[in-house]
Amino acid sequence: MTNICVIGTGYVGFTASVCFANLGNDCIGVDINSDRVKSLNGGIPPIYETGLRELLEINLREKRLYYTTELKEAVKESEVIFICVGTPENSDGSVDLSQVYSVAESIGKAMNKYKVIVNKSTVPIGTAEAVKNIIKKNYSGEFDVVSNPEFLREGAAMKDFFNPDRIIIGTESEKAAEIMKHLYKAVERVENPIIVTDTKSAELIKYASNAYLATKISFINEIARYAEVVGADVTKVAKGMGLDKRIGSRFLHAGIGYGGSCFPKDVKGILYSAKSAGVELQIIKAVDKVNHEQPEFVLKKILLALKTTKGKKVAVLGLAFKPKTDDVRNAPAETIIKKLIEAGVKISAFDPVAEDNFKKIFPQIEYFSNPYDTAKGADLLFISTEWDQFRDIDKKRLKSLMKQPIIVDGRNIYEPNEMKKAGFEYISVGRK
Ligand code: UGA
Repeated sequence: MTNICVIGTGYVGFTASVCFANLGNDCIGVDINSDRVKSLNGGIPPIYETGLRELLEINLREKRLYYTTELKEAVKESEVIFICVGTPENSDGSVDLSQVYSVAESIGKAMNKYKVIVNKSTVPIGTAEAVKNIIKKNYSGEFDVVSNPEFLREGAAMKDFFNPDRIIIGTESEKAAEIMKHLYKAVERVENPIIVTDTKSAELIKYASNAYLATKISFINEIARYAEVVGADVTKVAKGMGLDKRIGSRFLHAGIGYGGSCFPKDVKGILYSAKSAGVELQIIKAVDKVNHEQPEFVLKKILLALKTTKGKKVAVLGLAFKPKTDDVRNAPAETIIKKLIEAGVKISAFDPVAEDNFKKIFPQIEYFSNPYDTAKGADLLFISTEWDQFRDIDKKRLKSLMKQPIIVDGRNIYEPNEMKKAGFEYISVGRK
């Protein structure tokens, strides 16, 4: 059992606080937002994520976990302190580290004995060193700073936390490495080991991993564009490529481009920090460019199929940036819907969990609670997020409800031949 404190209760911090508590540690979650702290102590999670509500309740009840706004007390009581605050994107693509630095200063002022301070937020290379220097200015005793990047995916946060592919611990201190290894022992497996590196390599592992995954997506999206022109099918191409073990089949789904709070920001973040170090990352630059173009590429298909936008209605299925989450940050649906509204198209939409968040951006859209009501009277149906419940849709019913049976599938969830047989004009990505 270790006394832990997790500062920041966003996606990463909330998940870490609940999961570390569930492993038997005493955990204090800290956030400056007192409303959030109150809700968390009342068992209400700040995000939608399978299984976490139940774990939150259990660990609150068994008194291994509580939330507070009092950073100073929480730090004093803890041996390991995780920094999980936001690292948003600045307008020039650089990373805004103000929250990390301000928390580091507060930690420094609250230090009373040896502690391990862990950067879990995604931060540019050299940030662990910067955090160390800030704490040093405020505390003269012994402490260590560790870089321990998080690799969990939204929508699978709990599963990923307990079954990580690897655990990266970046530190120059053997003492800190041992404390961290002990903490993660319960989730380590022979095939999913703990890797200890220096802090800079750990920081770069996180950026390079996200940039590589983003590269796979932009790569297949470019191949999709080519496949369309020559009459090939990108889903078959991806399958054929992916069976080569050196390539792997995951993250080769062509679509409307990657979104969310991680890939778009981290791709720009690594480009910016590399450039500041005098290195131009040409491949990653192209990845970003292709991804910017991808929603436009799909929008063109919608506009072409509609012929004219005047008096038209488009039904959108899925608003979150991916299934199993209510997160709409950088959702490609946003770019496409915005342009359609500007062109005078009426939008109806449905998402199983992201409606409330999307409403904050587009209150003028008509929202429905199922795909069929959404499709009623629509000139075109646009699949924006591949939620499972859209996969086996009642095609006959759908067709009878729509004004025109046109589907633009931004996620390739249907079989073109089946849709054609069902009487739809079916347009997808990278397929005839
Ligand atoms: C991503 C990484 O997968 C996590 O490992 C990482 O920890 C996280 O970023 C982070 O840095 O915090 P996440 O953003 O939750 O996780 O979502 P992903 O499942 O990776 O999907 C990202 C985007 O890529 C989504 O918009 C998704 O629709 C898109 N995508 C994914 C594709 O278009 N095609 C694919 O084949 C896979």
